[in-house]
Amino acid sequence: MSAELDPIAGPEHKPVAVSTKNAEPALPPLRKLMEFRASKGMYDILPDEARRFALVEAAFRRVVELHGYSEVRTPVLEPTELFLRSTGETSEIVEKQMFTLARETESFTLRPEGTPGVARAFLNGSVHAKEPVTRWYYIGPMFRAERPQRGRQRQFHQAGCEVYGDAGPVVDAEMIDMLVGLLGELGISDVEVRVNSIGGPTTRQKYREALLAHLTPRKDSLSEHAQKRLDDNPLRILDSKDPRDRAAVADAPSILDCLEPDDRAHWDGFLAALDALGTQYVVTPGLVRGLDYYTRTLFELVSNQGELGAQNTLLGGGRYDGMVHELGGPKLPAVGFAIGLERLLLASPLPTPERAPRCFIAPLGAAGLRVALGLARELRRAGIGADLDGRGGSMKSMLRRADSVGARVCLVLGDSEVETDQVQIKDLASHSQSLCPRADVLSRVAAILASAPKVNEAAR
Ligand code: HAM
Repeated sequence: MSAELDPIAGPEHKPVAVSTKNAEPALPPLRKLMEFRASKGMYDILPDEARRFALVEAAFRRVVELHGYSEVRTPVLEPTELFLRSTGETSEIVEKQMFTLARETESFTLRPEGTPGVARAFLNGSVHAKEPVTRWYYIGPMFRAERPQRGRQRQFHQAGCEVYGDAGPVVDAEMIDMLVGLLGELGISDVEVRVNSIGGPTTRQKYREALLAHLTPRKDSLSEHAQKRLDDNPLRILDSKDPRDRAAVADAPSILDCLEPDDRAHWDGFLAALDALGTQYVVTPGLVRGLDYYTRTLFELVSNQGELGAQNTLLGGGRYDGMVHELGGPKLPAVGFAIGLERLLLASPLPTPERAPRCFIAPLGAAGLRVALGLARELRRAGIGADLDGRGGSMKSMLRRADSVGARVCLVLGDSEVETDQVQIKDLASHSQSLCPRADVLSRVAAILASAPKVNEAAR
């Protein structure tokens, strides 16, 4: 015989007796749960904030899919060697910021950026043999052991795109135009597009020599860090925030004056495509970016809008025509970018989206609960959000709970409603109520919810 449903008592919980005799010795005393905090620089994204993330992610997906990108998902943990070979041994990420762990004889690293893993997946899937041009996008958490501050976390989220097989320069320009459009949709209009070209290997070698000729006589005035960079990666000194380095590079030669003819043709084509699109940009010869793999086009979108502080680079990207080959694949050009979602949310004025309007089902007693269970299932299957509170309680407490979940409608099922096969419908916005035949509840609730204001407009 099935047990009577009792909404008040609920199932019985018997305490489990635990013997402490012969217990394992000497584990350190457990800390109280409240003492635990997320690791330094890592944050919980609670539901209100998660809805803002979902909003910008939906806008991102919609826009990039309109431009022909398909989603790819790759592991969070990758072989450490992958980042050494691609992100680069002289990059700050590889030098100082990787979360690396050893397991048996292997070394793994929590991905500090998405580009190397996506390129690896592209190669492992032999996608280049099937498609002349591939356009992929990804969204997910990245990890860098940086000093945390506003807009800079140790776990953060990127949304990025990568294109393989198109040497540009039109694709580079279209990517930037797409990004300006996306930011505009998210209410971020105060944006500066910074562009530069660092050419191919020949250009860079030529420029490296010109830069060394300029900086070597000034070596003693450089920061200690820049002095070290003189040997391994002098271009990165252009990026330094140290006032001593800034002074030394102020009148340094421009890389744009050293471009080889094919790099120059690419650069001219890139600017011509941006002009044709009417995209505003600022040529920034000092822009070098912190990853070793870039070739030719580099770009960053910077904003001072909203609550962005010093970390005002919303996104960065560029061409990396050597990586696929460096990872063991064919010589295939590539270009991409990644947006920091936390920074996007700091800049965007979009409010936290409301939850979709829903209804609350309030059974008053065991008979009402039996009907409520079926009704809740029916509503949900029809695509209507429904909360069922099976704990029982007075009408007053049920209405309080309906309010706390933000319900628009409350469906009351007391004994008299069950006997007459009806449901009492309370419209919590207009404070009106009526009795409705059980068979008509779905359409009545749908009509009330449809009159509620629309949500998530930006994500459409
Ligand atoms: P990135 O410049 O290192 O490039 O990062 C791109 C964006 O990720 C930054 O502009 C920023 O918004 C965000 N970001 C980076 N580090 C943090 C952090 N610690 N906390 C919060 N946000 C952060 C890349 O990652 C390249 N993979 C971009 C790319 C794709 N290039 C070609 N394809």
